[in-house]
Amino acid sequence: MNLPVPPIGIEVLKQHLIDPEICIRCNTCEETCPIDAITHDENNYVVKAEVCNGCMACISPCPTGAIDNWRTVFKAEAYGIEEQFTWDELPAEKPIGDVGANTEQGTIAEEDDTDRLAFVRGAVVPPWSAAKPYVNLYTHKAPLTATIVGNYRLTDESAERTSPAADIHHIVLDFGSTPFPVLEGQSIGILPPGTTRDGKPHHARQYSIASPRNGERPGYNNLSLTVKRVTQDHEGNAAEGVCSNYLCDLKKGDTVTVIGPFGSTFLMPNHPNSHLLMICTGTGSAPMRAMTEYRRRRRLKGATGKLMLFFGARTKEELPYFGPLTKLPKDFIDTNLAFSRTPGQAKRYVQDAMRERSADVAQLLKDEHTYVYVCGLRGMEDGVLQALQEIAEGSGIGWPGLWERLKREGRLHLETY
Ligand code: FAD
Ligand code: A2P
Repeated sequence: MNLPVPPIGIEVLKQHLIDPEICIRCNTCEETCPIDAITHDENNYVVKAEVCNGCMACISPCPTGAIDNWRTVFKAEAYGIEEQFTWDELPAEKPIGDVGANTEQGTIAEEDDTDRLAFVRGAVVPPWSAAKPYVNLYTHKAPLTATIVGNYRLTDESAERTSPAADIHHIVLDFGSTPFPVLEGQSIGILPPGTTRDGKPHHARQYSIASPRNGERPGYNNLSLTVKRVTQDHEGNAAEGVCSNYLCDLKKGDTVTVIGPFGSTFLMPNHPNSHLLMICTGTGSAPMRAMTEYRRRRRLKGATGKLMLFFGARTKEELPYFGPLTKLPKDFIDTNLAFSRTPGQAKRYVQDAMRERSADVAQLLKDEHTYVYVCGLRGMEDGVLQALQEIAEGSGIGWPGLWERLKREGRLHLETY
């Protein structure tokens, strides 16, 4: 077939697009983009062709890979954001000839690791020894049905009297005989039933997996989630979260529609002498539970790496997994809890607890086998990075160099929402 060849001088663009069929609207790309080239409406996340410079900073953090789509177009005919907002699927590639030969913009920017790392706060690669994850095995077009085999309230009933947002559930999903291979640190998407006010199906919500790769119950084809019932928006106004309420109300035997798994960087190292420094708040404990439990199961088989956990919640009654956590042996995991709203006590955040243990945290930071995980409230990221910087510098480690190394070597992972 003879393809039309663009005349010399007509600019061609490798246009960056987001696949609306795979995108789970988690906002990670919009937050990551250093030049505000990504935006969204209630339907889609889209890329402004005239702003995007192909820096690739958004590619690795995207949990689904929806972000990594490109179409070769004449620059004058690039898809505008208004058109992208209406898409249910990506347009097919239109053949326009051997574009690379004709224009400087015919190819996307070469991946430059140094530039990319300057834009991101956490690693864009997994730990070197992490197992290879499967991602996007089940999609919006071909989802999977799982059966609820357990739904238990984790937080104390009394917590709700002081805090309306304290209902957190441990929910176990079983996949029967359908394969759903996962790793600790990955997440899944849940498609809640029903439609939005304008009649569109609800978009998927993302939940971290709280169980190890070999199942909530070892050897079973199941996994668990840690879901907080959302009853207020971020400003404290009453709001009934669509998916979290749906999940928290599910009964044993009900079915849910699942997509995923997602995530190819927030993964745990597999070498047994690696240390895990885990910092989380609230439901951000889900991946930490998965990793800790995997290590607990493997410990018998000779894992020697250290586990250090900083875990924050409003009160001990609101801390998911409080009971089981406090029963773990001290020589297995060094657990540090921080409560911000215990009556009669000063407000304490995870970063305060980290500073109190700065000598031990610094010891871990000095070790090239240490992997740092931060998960939970978006607001904690700044404070935790600040604490890490102070602890590093207080013990004579230059933070800019260490931070760069942690990112490059897949040893600092941030997942906040
Ligand atoms: P929506 O109907 O989407 O929102 C209702 C209102 O509540 C909106 O105004 C919204 O802005 C606000 N809102 C949304 N989320 C919150 C919140 N957390 N606190 C206060 N207000 C909120 N959630 C978990 O419970 N457990 C997890 O393990 C978990 N892992 C996640 C991992 C990733 C990578 C991401 C991006 C999100 C994760 N979430 C997790 C959040 C989850 O995807 C949903 O956003 C959350 O359950 C709210 O969905 P909803 O449908 O109930 O609320
Ligand atoms: P606070 O009492 O100030 O809200 P939540 O219950 O909303 O999921 O929050 C979990 C914990 O994280 C709470 O103790 C909350 O304290 C705390 N928190 C709030 N903001 C930050 C922050 N910037 N850094 C660390 N922890 C925070």
